[in-house]
Amino acid sequence: MKQSRFTVFVKDLSTRFKNEVRGGSLHVTASIVLCLSIASTMVILGMFINDHVKKYLALSENPYSYSLCNSSLSSPSLPPLIQFPITSGSFSDWISPKEVWHSMNDKELLWRASMVPHIDEYPYNRTPKVAFLFLTRGRLPLAQLWEKFFKGHEGLYSIYVHTSPEFTEVPPESSVFYNRRIPSKPVEWGRATMVDAERRLLANALLDFSNERFVLLSETCIPILNFTTIYKYLINSKQSFIGSFDDPRHNGRGRYNKLLWPTVNLSDWRKGSQWFELDRKLAGKMVSDVKYYPVFREHCKPPCYMDEHYLPTLVTKIWPELNSNRSITWVDWSAGGPHPARFLRKDVSENFLNRIRNGINCTYNGSITKVCFLFARKFHPSTLEPLLRIAPALLGFNS
Ligand SMILES: *[C@@H]1O[C@H](CO)[C@@H](O)[C@H](O)[C@H]1NC(C)=O
Ligand SMILES: *[C@@H]1O[C@H](CO)[C@@H](O)[C@H](O)[C@H]1NC(C)=O
Ligand SMILES: *[C@@H]1O[C@H](CO)[C@@H](O)[C@H](O)[C@H]1NC(C)=O
Ligand SMILES: *[C@@H]1O[C@H](CO)[C@@H](O)[C@H](O)[C@H]1NC(C)=O
Ligand SMILES: *[C@@H]1O[C@H](CO)[C@@H](O)[C@H](O)[C@H]1NC(C)=O
Ligand SMILES: *[C@@H]1O[C@H](CO)[C@@H](O)[C@H](O)[C@H]1NC(C)=O
Repeated sequence: MKQSRFTVFVKDLSTRFKNEVRGGSLHVTASIVLCLSIASTMVILGMFINDHVKKYLALSENPYSYSLCNSSLSSPSLPPLIQFPITSGSFSDWISPKEVWHSMNDKELLWRASMVPHIDEYPYNRTPKVAFLFLTRGRLPLAQLWEKFFKGHEGLYSIYVHTSPEFTEVPPESSVFYNRRIPSKPVEWGRATMVDAERRLLANALLDFSNERFVLLSETCIPILNFTTIYKYLINSKQSFIGSFDDPRHNGRGRYNKLLWPTVNLSDWRKGSQWFELDRKLAGKMVSDVKYYPVFREHCKPPCYMDEHYLPTLVTKIWPELNSNRSITWVDWSAGGPHPARFLRKDVSENFLNRIRNGINCTYNGSITKVCFLFARKFHPSTLEPLLRIAPALLGFNS
């Protein structure tokens, strides 16, 4: 288009030149041609510089500027350089987004979260953080306990909350949960949508490069040790804490679907609690798994519960040495049935919490310890009052 217009222009100019020569006004025409050629050289040079500056900016700015750059370049008339978003996004925004809300869909989010740096050393002073991922329907009834738990430890944790999409209540601005809700979708118990929500939480948390450990929690979970102890326990562990075992009974092997073969065979089949704790390596594997996830989604439907089998089996297949095979979230299955015991106000006492904390022996980093559980469930909202009463002494909260 531009080229042909230019040709027309040149032809036009030469015709006029011939006419002018015949008319004898050669001198005036020569000056006009000279001026025009200087002007056009400047325009072309300007466009060239403009283009290079744009390319340079597109490479040095945050990834969002690619699409902005693309759309501005593809529009027929170039907008003035001043409109280009030079100031949007600095390095610190890129390694740790300030806002957890965004407009990415799941596919875009998982893809972005699957990116792993290939330079081991961080170009900034990185303090590893623990990401607390709350998977809840609505309000967190025990939020007040968590507020006390987190108090004074800013910079060592991040919080992400996945709720029902219709839940729109906003916590007070002073709360640690303020503005920590991620774009959420409906979740059905025992279905693939549950695992989708877990992956969504993980993916959002992976966008912050300082998050090193990732704990999944529900609205009925409580911490049973103080923040410092939990932080050190997780950050210094060489393994993740995903309950994973081979259950030979009907509720374990009985849920294996032959259609999972050959991707997953019965000897790989594992069961475990959905309430995981993952390190960054495994979190990255879970969000970027395109091999096992679709097969489970297709062939592990109730009475096969994907949230109890997918991750325990995945980690056994891809990186078993990274898992301790035990959960750090205590729960009471002793009564049997499809759901674990739920504790009410009358159940909560210092004795009860101490029994949970010191009940068993387990291995941590290869040696035996009594500290096996960091969290416990399921606590009814009515337990908040006794918990707040006991917590300062038990958990060393500075109330
Ligand atoms: C870039 O622009 C082209 C042409 O308008 C369009 O087809 C393409 O989808 C755009 N890409 C992005 C990432 O916006
Ligand atoms: C656990 O093992 C890792 C790797 O060997 C080590 O860096 C870490 O300090 C150990 N943690 C504790 C509490 O001993
Ligand atoms: C199941 O898979 C494991 C490893 O992936 C393999 O060693 C084993 O032979 C397989 N068993 C069957 C019955 O295919
Ligand atoms: C966890 O289970 C896997 C697979 O069964 C096994 O390879 C691994 O050694 C176990 N890890 C520990 C700490 O026992
Ligand atoms: C835990 O181990 C200690 C010794 O290391 C032992 O005395 C105690 O009985 C064990 N507790 C349980 C519940 O097995
Ligand atoms: C946290 O718990 C540990 C272990 O129980 C204890 O040594 C420490 O003093 C506690 N910290 C606070 C601030 O209470």
